[in-house]
Amino acid sequence: MVYLLCYIGYAVALARAGHHSRVPIANKAPGRSYSRVLIVGATGGTGRMLVAQALDRGLRVTALVRDRSRLETDNPHLTVIQGDVLDPSTLEAAMTGQDAVLSALGHKRFFGPTRILSEGSRNILRAMEVHKVPRLVCETSLGIGDSVGRMGVYYSLFVIPVILAFYFWDKTRQEQVIARSHVEWVIVRPGALTNGPKRGHPRHGPSVGSYILTASISRADVSEFMLDQLESDTYLRSAVGVCS
Ligand SMILES: NC(=O)c1ccc[n+]([C@@H]2O[C@H](COP(=O)([O-])OP(=O)(O)OC[C@H]3O[C@@H](n4cnc5c(N)ncnc54)[C@H](OP(=O)(O)O)[C@@H]3O)[C@@H](O)[C@H]2O)c1
Repeated sequence: MVYLLCYIGYAVALARAGHHSRVPIANKAPGRSYSRVLIVGATGGTGRMLVAQALDRGLRVTALVRDRSRLETDNPHLTVIQGDVLDPSTLEAAMTGQDAVLSALGHKRFFGPTRILSEGSRNILRAMEVHKVPRLVCETSLGIGDSVGRMGVYYSLFVIPVILAFYFWDKTRQEQVIARSHVEWVIVRPGALTNGPKRGHPRHGPSVGSYILTASISRADVSEFMLDQLESDTYLRSAVGVCS
């Protein structure tokens, strides 16, 4: 009974505090292109896909990494900058000349209060505003704001409230920070991530996911969808769910 009450309270908090999608506002400057991108979280699962796929699309990529040795650097269109999102000075250096930021920031410090995602995103946005970088595409997760419950019953009743409670609270704050910003932003909320191959044509929209089954998607498909958001205004200033 106590667990149930705690769960309901937590779910209500995630639902109320997270971003709620409104009618998207399409206002990209006409003719603007996003050919120079900064990828944050570039050594992670989604981040590596973003780097590879962005280079395949012919974009000029800057990867912000904490450890240079974790990313191959032999592509002439890839620049690697060592830095930390909690250190604004390294972000400033990485932001110069960029057209957009793609963030696949994440970590594994699940069992205690953390502000890495929210504070890191605040620092990213400050540096974007200073350097007039117009667009941010940020990966968060289904299960926040108006997508509470859409990760399926296993995640909604066990994984999120028991294992990821602090993490999801930080993610909720991360979405708040982004939604209050003045840049062109798109929040991409995937279901459970897999390392499977790219299948293409994922389902997307404010109401994808399932209240029963675990909604999942490969990191390769999430990455492709995130890169597509550089050229599309469909979900500008909104949080969009994406799953297979
Ligand atoms: N796993 C799932 O099923 C699932 C489902 C939905 C959404 N998501 C979310 O999707 C996002 C990406 O997940 P993922 O599993 O693909 O990525 P991941 O493997 O967890 O990688 C996270 C990335 O963030 C970087 N990072 C962490 N702290 C940093 C800091 N202070 N400064 C700079 N970089 C930092 C990591 O760098 P290092 O390599 O140096 O650690 C790594 O490159 C996460 O936000 C995750 O919560 C995950």
